Amino acid sequence: MKSKTNRLDRFISQNSVFSLSDTRLLIAQKRILLDGHVAHSIQQKVTEFTHVVLDGNCLKDKNPVYIMLNKPQGVVSATKDLKHSTVLDLIQHPQKNELHIVGRLDFNTTGLVLLTNDGAWSRRISLPETKLAKTYEVTLSKPLSDEYIAAFREGIYFGYENITTQPACLEILSEYTAKLSLIEGKYHQVKRMFGFFQNEVLALHRVSVGHISLEGLEVGRSRLLTTKELVTSENPYAL
Ligand code: URA
Repeated sequence: MKSKTNRLDRFISQNSVFSLSDTRLLIAQKRILLDGHVAHSIQQKVTEFTHVVLDGNCLKDKNPVYIMLNKPQGVVSATKDLKHSTVLDLIQHPQKNELHIVGRLDFNTTGLVLLTNDGAWSRRISLPETKLAKTYEVTLSKPLSDEYIAAFREGIYFGYENITTQPACLEILSEYTAKLSLIEGKYHQVKRMFGFFQNEVLALHRVSVGHISLEGLEVGRSRLLTTKELVTSENPYAL
């Protein structure tokens, strides 16, 4: 998703009858408000979510929305599907049609799905460089061993993309269950990592993304993220 940041004079020329050069005068006459404050420079940034008012008329007032959903099995991580219900069908929010999904889950995978209309935020959450752990509970068809822990820490080679997965942390909970934390989200990544050991994933459930945890949210329900969840999602170490 492209960044939607614009310079104030460019924004004014694209969204009003005034030109780039008129903006300097509008500023001097204190006719522009950005997020409730009088604009002071043609170089001020107008982001996707800046509220812009010119002569008392609102030119832009889009609000960022951040939602978490506890996805049930058999729901598609898409905004539209002809056959099945989608994660969007489970959300009631007036801006729901603006939302996109941050890190899809497979049809039968359950758990935490994040949705937003803020492209910059979803990019930061998804980038491996941000090092946000996406944690899954996994149920396998064959017994686990300590061999998996070392292999996942080293990285698993994915021939199709010609990449080795980033170091991942596996905690074995029982013979057939484990918790796996990844900092990236390649296509079917968890299933393919266990596939290296010919061990089929029978159930997969995402419990958290960084400090954003599903705890307390019923299956099929959604809620807005709290300010604290948003702050810590920007910086996983800030608590
Ligand atoms: N990895 C998978 O294999 N499937 C998911 O749904 C999520 C991660």
